[in-house]
Amino acid sequence: MFREVFFNVNQADAVVVAGKVLTCSDDDVPHPCCGEDMDDVGEIEEGALAIRDGQIVETGFARDLLRRWQGEVYDYCDCTILPGFVDAHTHPIFAGSRADEYILRAQGASYEEIHAKGGGIASTVRATTEATDSELEELTRARLNLMLAHGSTTIEAKSGYGLNTKEELRELRILRKLGDELPIDLSVTFLGAHAIPEEYASNPYDYVKLVIYEMIPQVTQEHLADWIDVFCERGVFDVAQSKRILESGMAAGLGARIHAEEFCYLGGAKMAAQIGAASCDHLQNLQADDYPILKESGIIPIMTPGTSFFLGTGKYAKGREMIDFGLPVALATDFNPGSNFCLSMPMAISLAVLCLKFTPEEAIKAATVNAAHSLKLGDKVGSLAAGRQADFVVLNTLDWRSWPYSYGVNLIKAVYKRGSKVVG
Ligand code: NIG
Ligand code: FE
Repeated sequence: MFREVFFNVNQADAVVVAGKVLTCSDDDVPHPCCGEDMDDVGEIEEGALAIRDGQIVETGFARDLLRRWQGEVYDYCDCTILPGFVDAHTHPIFAGSRADEYILRAQGASYEEIHAKGGGIASTVRATTEATDSELEELTRARLNLMLAHGSTTIEAKSGYGLNTKEELRELRILRKLGDELPIDLSVTFLGAHAIPEEYASNPYDYVKLVIYEMIPQVTQEHLADWIDVFCERGVFDVAQSKRILESGMAAGLGARIHAEEFCYLGGAKMAAQIGAASCDHLQNLQADDYPILKESGIIPIMTPGTSFFLGTGKYAKGREMIDFGLPVALATDFNPGSNFCLSMPMAISLAVLCLKFTPEEAIKAATVNAAHSLKLGDKVGSLAAGRQADFVVLNTLDWRSWPYSYGVNLIKAVYKRGSKVVG
């Protein structure tokens, strides 16, 4: 007590010292970043974090924090630490493999052709439905752990490979269970509107009604999801159907997200912005006319360059243009069995630099602070500031700007969740 009064030394659980700390936050009021702010990761040389009860209590220069805080010192002098990644769009719960389709696509078949012939999402729905609860749980657990090993400490996870009430609820229950068990913040999304099941092909509106009148009430009654999402696309759900589904979910208390303009422009992102959705994702075919509406609404556009890469379409979202316009873009893997079988956020960051023309700084901020805001978690995760969770990644280099350059390689030395080492 005396010591605290006279020398102003406070007790922390740990002081993490690093050659470089990227705070990804320039002030204490959490907000999504846009414009030039995207290009500033808040680098502190010879920096440190003081941690207590799983939270950051102070971020600053190591020499200052070591004077002000007492506690175990973790020494990462040769490393860079940055916020744990927030993967804001994933489909991790499924069984079966679509490796055959990936080979077909490499030889020229398109994703939409495969989908129209009953492959694609429908084939994963069949395999998933056949899996037992424990098989599905184990497959999903392994994937989430692998995401964590690649630095993702907060993950948005969608259902969507059930397409009937019983199966969709099963997937959501498993996701909730894994969210409770694993050292990951799991934000769960109900994506019953991921495809029109084969048995509804001739009367798709009946499936829309099933989602609205049967699935949503049960999902919300059991608190199985935080979000509702819809695949708004040519041959799947049109804008009017998507709007009805999202508005019904919102009326039941879910936040809204949308898959929009992935294969063609329909206007789904604009609609989502107008009804107050939190994010619009993919956007490979978004038109610049929609930027002002997106900007005004505060919706977060989520880039998924891994999907463009894996599908081999050569068609990337105009992320550079969106940043230059002032949109608070975020980044996600879109990990799924069909259109991107890659769960690595470092790879998404490399692709953002290479294919979306982001600077490394912009890619890192899109993958952390802005992704966190897209999940309405920006006050808890996505940046290293006092009051946030001590979720961080230790990179095995000081030259963090060159880190996206060594693409496809995992240079992560350790991952911490709420102040505890969970990887490394
Ligand atoms: O985000 N677009 C819809 N969902 C996934 C693809 C899912 C699948 O092919 O299984 C996506 O690209
Ligand atoms: Fe998706």
